[in-house]
Amino acid sequence: MADLSTTYMGLSLRNPIVVASSTLTGTVDGVKECAAAGAGAIVLKSLFEEQIVAETGALLEYADYANHGEAAEYLQGYGMELGPREYLQLVSDAKKAVDVPIIPSLNCFSNERWADYAKKLQLAGADAIELNIAFMPTDLRQDAKAVEERYYRILHDVKTKVSIPVALKIGPYFSSLANIADHLTRDRAEAPDFTVGWCGPSTNKGKVVWSGADALVLFNRFYQFDIDIDHLGLVAGNHFSSQSEIHLGLRWISLLAGKIDADLAATTGIHDGYDMVKQLLAGARVVQLCSTLYLNDLGQIKVMQRQLEEWMAEHGFANLDAFRGRLSQARSDRPESFERLQYIKLFVGIE
Ligand SMILES: Cc1cc2nc3c(=O)[nH]c(=O)nc-3n(C[C@H](O)[C@H](O)[C@H](O)COP(=O)(O)O)c2cc1C
Repeated sequence: MADLSTTYMGLSLRNPIVVASSTLTGTVDGVKECAAAGAGAIVLKSLFEEQIVAETGALLEYADYANHGEAAEYLQGYGMELGPREYLQLVSDAKKAVDVPIIPSLNCFSNERWADYAKKLQLAGADAIELNIAFMPTDLRQDAKAVEERYYRILHDVKTKVSIPVALKIGPYFSSLANIADHLTRDRAEAPDFTVGWCGPSTNKGKVVWSGADALVLFNRFYQFDIDIDHLGLVAGNHFSSQSEIHLGLRWISLLAGKIDADLAATTGIHDGYDMVKQLLAGARVVQLCSTLYLNDLGQIKVMQRQLEEWMAEHGFANLDAFRGRLSQARSDRPESFERLQYIKLFVGIE
């Protein structure tokens, strides 16, 4: 029988199947069901920044952000009913109830208020924290540097307060994704270039000590925007992904694996065991599942585990390290084939 065990951010997992942050993981019962179904780790439903702000009575101060479409939509659509105190309770109850790693998730977009709460999550027993920086840069006056700095600050504030690993769940929309992925994950003894002019709270002889994220989760699937042409209004697109949405994340996992100093978790469009095999070949340490568990049920975890085991047996792989990252660009003898060449080949000759 193949060995499916793996590490993720230094945590030991019995298999690489992680249940993604969702309503499936918002209660202790839900967490127990996920663990009983065979999950290797569980990311709890997010606590949204608006909830922490509301709790401190400062929501009005944040009126602009409260109107932030993405967060508002999540709050309405996905029924985020837990407050910060209940959320801490969920973390500690979930930890007691199951023996797989529990990773609470914070959905944030501004730089304040996170660090102290992250510390409380650690004290409540969290094995790691996933930060979902769900920030939509729609302001015409805000440049790319200012947007990126927001990521660095949130990460830095949290990393300086907790000693457990921190994962960052990000979207693909950056001018230079490879560069920011590197900056977000690399530990540095001195202030990196991008923090020029910024003196963060943690200093070492006057210099910012930068500690990178322990994992990147690629990619956030943003609220799908659509227009209803009959009623001339805005509507939500499909809440659930389809299998065809795997490709963007797959490409970037294969491009970044082995190059950045962090684990990679794949999310979006992973629906069966063969999708999982692809992500592992590209270099993912774990996959995160959401839509497929809603569209099928939690039994899909075992189905995918079996598909992975069968595929490994067929190819003679005894454990995940035997093939993980084999199709990453870093390990390719033809790295150019991951980039422009493929694109040219595809289009030249098509009339
Ligand atoms: C009903 C539902 C609730 C979700 N809630 C959250 C959430 O609270 N926090 C978060 O980071 N992602 C949330 N997501 C996004 C998922 O974690 C996941 O990243 C996304 O659905 C893409 O993965 P998939 O293709 O497997 O569905 C939610 C998704 C769904 C469908």
